[in-house]
This record gives sequence, structure tokens and C-alpha cells, in this order.
Amino acid sequence: MSEETAVRPDLRQSERFLSLYTPPKIDGNFTGKHIISVEQFDRRDLQILFDATLSIRRRMRQHDRGLLALTAGRLMATLFYEASTRTDLSFQAAMRHLGGEVVAASNGVQFSSIYKGENLADTVRAVGCYADVIVLRHPEVGSSYEAAYYLDLLREQVMRQPLVISGGDGVGEHPTQALLDMFTIFDLKNRIDGLDITLVGDLRHGRTVHSLAKLIARYEAQDTTLNFVAPKELSMPANVLNYLEGKGIAVNETDNLYDVLGQTDVIYWTRIQEERFADPASYDAIKGDFIMTPAVLAEAKPDVILMHPLPRKHEMGTPADHDALDADPRTVYFKQMENGMLVRMALLAKVLGGLWV
Ligand code: NCD
Repeated sequence: MSEETAVRPDLRQSERFLSLYTPPKIDGNFTGKHIISVEQFDRRDLQILFDATLSIRRRMRQHDRGLLALTAGRLMATLFYEASTRTDLSFQAAMRHLGGEVVAASNGVQFSSIYKGENLADTVRAVGCYADVIVLRHPEVGSSYEAAYYLDLLREQVMRQPLVISGGDGVGEHPTQALLDMFTIFDLKNRIDGLDITLVGDLRHGRTVHSLAKLIARYEAQDTTLNFVAPKELSMPANVLNYLEGKGIAVNETDNLYDVLGQTDVIYWTRIQEERFADPASYDAIKGDFIMTPAVLAEAKPDVILMHPLPRKHEMGTPADHDALDADPRTVYFKQMENGMLVRMALLAKVLGGLWV
């Protein structure tokens, strides 16, 4: 990780854990594994997880009470040092739909011992003493690696393995978002192979696009093209581009959306990550670039899908533009939301040992 990912110097404490801790490969078996990077998954693991997600969706639609047994008696803690709506609530809903319980700091982590200056390593171990699995969102790259490192040390003391699942680490990765995004593409397009997929917006700071691009490489997608559309200042970091090299995926970088708009099968729009800019003037200079509106979408294929991890702001135009876009059947971001909960249900059931899903 270097300058090109624009990590603020005050947010670099956890970075060294990227080399100190290697996340375990799933290798067909999810039980007892931390989930902190898409690099843990391969094509077969994704097929297993997506099959489990389809089974859970079927059972949810049938109101199958048997789901309530899958994590019964298990406890999930949420530890969110950054704002969240979807990731936080979808994990909580997922755990409850499986019969598990959820705890969180009563008034948010800002009123926990963080306020007294406690470091992440200690907070995570304290929570690991209470919970089976911790969902962690933190502003620093490497924070989930650090959590995994210390939870492994805690194992000896509590005689069980508390787990961490990353809910996003700064400008680094957001693995469960990539899992739900890829599931959504499968669900709606029935394949990843052969697709032309376009990621647009703040590719520099956007962790969702870092994880999704890498996950497509982990899937060993065949004949897939990835278009990265961003202003030059916000282009995809070199570490992600290097990861994609030699993986058989055609990568195409441009700052002109219209180079690819008419031919692409999947458009993944993103927010300019205002909170991650060190200098507000550079945010202001760029924020007007790439606005999705009904007029822009009109230029895309009739069977394109338009995705967005949400939240959305002005990069999807005015509130009236939002409403008009939402009325177009090609926009699928609320399907992504529902899939987020379903994929997280499958993941929780699997890491906590519900192998029969
Ligand atoms: C994203 C995130 O937090 O990285 N949101 C999410 O989890 N759905 C995207 C964003 O904040 O722009």
C-alpha cells in the first residue's frame, strides 16, 4: 500500500498488519475463518456461497422457520468506527433471521472506551471475549487484519476462536459488499464470464470497487472486460491494477464514459468519497464529474444493469433524477440491498459452522 491509494498519514497505524497477517484461504471450508479480504475466495468458494445464498432466499420466501436454527445460541457484535446504514443493519438483520443474537455499544463506539483512547487491538479482544463474531468497520487500511491477528492471540485465552468479518477498512477493501455485488450480477445476468463490466467514479478511494475488481479476478472470469472510468486524479490504484495483471481479464482505463457506455452489460456507479479527501478544494474540483441521470442512462444498452453500493448523492443527479432512475427497470441497487442481507446470512451461517445451508 503506498501513496497511490491516498491513505491519510494519520490513518496508517494498522497498515503494517497487511504484511504481518495472512488471511486464511477459504478452500471450500468457511467454518471458523475470518473474512477480511476477497483474496480468500476462489471460483469454487464463490459458487458454494452463492448456492447457499439462493437456498436461503428460497427459504426466506417460504418463511421457513428452520432458518432460525442456523446461528441459534451464537452472538454477533458490531463495531463500527465509521458511518454505516446498510452494512450495519443488514448484518444485524442477517444474524437475527438465522436465530442468532446481536450486541453493539449502547451509544455507538464513540461513547465506548475509544473515547478514553483505547487502541483497536484491546477493544477487539474485549469484544472477542463476549461475542462469537465481530463485524468491524474502521477508517484504517489493515484494521481487519489487525483485528484477526489479535483475535487469534485471544483464542488461547478463551478456548474458542472469535472471528472478525470486515465491514470495510478505510480506502482498502469491503469484501462482503463485493460478494453481494457479484451475487447480484450472477442473479441478474447468470454469468460473469463474457461480460463487459464498467466501474465509474471515485475508483481511487472507493473500497467497494477495489474489492469487486479483485473478486472478479479471483473468480478467474473468462472473456470478461473491466472498464475503469474515472477522472485521472481518482483512477484505480496501482495495487489493484497490478493484482488484475495476468489474470486473463481485459482492463480498459478511460476518463470518458461514452467510450464504453453503449456496449457495457453492467454499470457500477459510485459516490465521490468526500470524507477521504485530505484537501476539500480537490474534492470541489472533481465532484461535478460523472453524474448519472436518466439522459445518460438512455445511451446504455436496453438490458444493462445499473448498480450502486449506496448511499448516493449528487453523482446520481437531483432527487427528481433519483426518482426517474429508480423507475427504470435497469436500476438494481435496491436488489443489491436485499442481496446484501441474504449473502451475509449465508456467510454468517457458514463461518459459524452451519454447513448444511
Ligand atoms: C459503501 C462503503 O461504505 O464503502 N457503502 C456501503 O457499504 N454500501 C460505499 C460508500 O460509502 O460510498
